[in-house]
Amino acid sequence: MASTYVDDDTGTDLFREEFKRYKRKEPSPDLSEVIDFTTDPTTNNDYEIIPLGCLQTMKTNPPLYGLRPVNEWKVYRCLSKPGFVFICNPFSAAAQRYWCYRCLHDYPSKDNVTNLDFIEKQCGINREDNIWSASETYERDKKQDKVDSAPFDLRFHIKKLRWVTLGYHYNWNDKTYDKNNVSIFPFDLKYLAKYVTSAIGYNEYNPEASIVNYYHIGSTLAGHTDHSEYDHQSPIVSFSFGQDAIFLLGGETKAVKPLAFHLRTGDICVMAGQSRLCYHAIPRVFTSKHFEISCNSSIDDEIRHLNSLSNTNENIQSTLENSTDYCKTNQLMLTTLNSLQWDTYEQFLSDSRINISVRQVLKHGQCFPD
Ligand code: OGA
Ligand code: MN
Repeated sequence: MASTYVDDDTGTDLFREEFKRYKRKEPSPDLSEVIDFTTDPTTNNDYEIIPLGCLQTMKTNPPLYGLRPVNEWKVYRCLSKPGFVFICNPFSAAAQRYWCYRCLHDYPSKDNVTNLDFIEKQCGINREDNIWSASETYERDKKQDKVDSAPFDLRFHIKKLRWVTLGYHYNWNDKTYDKNNVSIFPFDLKYLAKYVTSAIGYNEYNPEASIVNYYHIGSTLAGHTDHSEYDHQSPIVSFSFGQDAIFLLGGETKAVKPLAFHLRTGDICVMAGQSRLCYHAIPRVFTSKHFEISCNSSIDDEIRHLNSLSNTNENIQSTLENSTDYCKTNQLMLTTLNSLQWDTYEQFLSDSRINISVRQVLKHGQCFPD
């Protein structure tokens, strides 16, 4: 994960130059070199469309609710970044709401590890288990001028959440994973990551760890490589939700000038092959109309459709590998969407971005080194 950004005075740090350029507030940077796969990408020779219909190996992996059929996905690879794959938002509006809900309402629970746990330890105060609900209640009471008998500690407000780790918890200090520091990897995210990787030809992917990052407008993530996993062959799968960002992808040293990509809600980046160990960063998070359009349209028709699917689909996948995760995920998605009060999530995401990066930590068959 994020290794510390090391300053380099030699003048050859082209990564840093680009990072600074895209981070700049005034004047705002020229975005004309940013690769935007939503605008006529066929004119650039550096990347090509992969039509995925022919790559499908998903007899054992039926599609989750809210994912477009794989043969309709727009998938790109960059000739100059072997192994890097970009999938333009394959999620429906309802599915995006579901994944945002999971990242904000469920994943930050005490079963996992968050940056707020360290504050808890420092000040010796026990926070509420559900950061989202506690913050929501606080905000509602504040609006109604209610005086709370147990005042809410703003250090544990959802806006202070920066990261959550899932599965094997990444240790940010010594940049390692520990076999004893692990929680159950969420079944839905596991299924999603396996589904996406199998769609692009990785059939043995085993999601074991994830970092969920929470950004606000103006937040950045400095240049780093993700090299702490023991398995560097399996890809890192990275999902974006909420507001837009610039993603830089360089080479194995910072002397290589990075490419800049425009990331929008629902987009997926896969770093495999040579690109797996390349420097990357988020120099800029910014608002656009895109999230509003993509995710905030009415989902009533979609929910009606998913509910009717669930009635006909009930036993259909019972013989398939991973069928439990598949069924549980679709079921949870339905129950969640049928009762989700989206407006507070919408408000949070109007100036925030969520990134989920999924990693396989161990090689196939490998035991955790002592
Ligand atoms: C990371 C990472 C990129 C992003 O968490 O290691 O590189 O898109 N995230 O936020
Ligand atoms: Mn990373």
